[in-house]
Amino acid sequence: MKGIILAGGRGSRLYPLTYATNKHLLPVYDQPMIYYPISTLVSAGIDEIMIVTGGQHAGDFLPVLRNGRDFGIRQLEYAYQEENGGIAQALSFAKTFADEEPICVILGDNTTDADIRPAVEGFRGGATIFLKEVPDPHRFGCPVFSADDPARIIDIEEKPANPRSPYAVTGLYIYDAQIFDYIGGLEPSDRGELEITDANNRYLQDGQLDWHELDGFWSDAGTFESLYRTTRYWAEKKLGKQTADRVAAGIFASTP
Ligand code: G1P
Repeated sequence: MKGIILAGGRGSRLYPLTYATNKHLLPVYDQPMIYYPISTLVSAGIDEIMIVTGGQHAGDFLPVLRNGRDFGIRQLEYAYQEENGGIAQALSFAKTFADEEPICVILGDNTTDADIRPAVEGFRGGATIFLKEVPDPHRFGCPVFSADDPARIIDIEEKPANPRSPYAVTGLYIYDAQIFDYIGGLEPSDRGELEITDANNRYLQDGQLDWHELDGFWSDAGTFESLYRTTRYWAEKKLGKQTADRVAAGIFASTP
């Protein structure tokens, strides 16, 4: 399976931070944000990866990631998205790279410590999405479950005003080659973008959508609040809660 990281956009919700570089290169504790989705893919055994990016800071990725070997990537490729046409449009640039193989797609501002290897290895076609229970599902794609069968998704709503479940559809997806035909048939949404949620609903209508619940931490990091929350989580995980609290109090063990 090949991996695709979507790392475009202007990052306008993080202005002025993103005046100087691409959102996905901003720090999440001790690493650039994009290291985390790379690690999620590489840990799942995926070592052919394409990064789809865009905007005026696209060149900033090269000095940070180079050829990807330091991260366990065997083959690293880049694609450039001209317009801000949305996630599904960004993904369409990876069609030639995917070359009819299944793909695991992750948004470059999503970090998780869940192990997706079982889902990657168990993938048999169609689409797989990953859900996570969140306090603010109205910020995300949100599944609607069947009243008869609580394990069956009957619809996915994009940023619903009144979410019908407490789950977010995370920015982590596995698709077969059919995804590119579905994207080709999409119309822009009210925000003028090709929505990945619309493509997922096409799989759903065809009875080809499977889902897993992510077992572990998951957050996006595209707003100040979510970037702060994400940074805090990883700092505490890497330092240990006690040390993180000491650091917050100004006690730095490593300071000479
Ligand atoms: C995108 C998707 C949404 C998904 C989210 C995950 O939203 O449209 O369905 O739940 O990523 O991070 P965005 O943050 O690009 O508006």
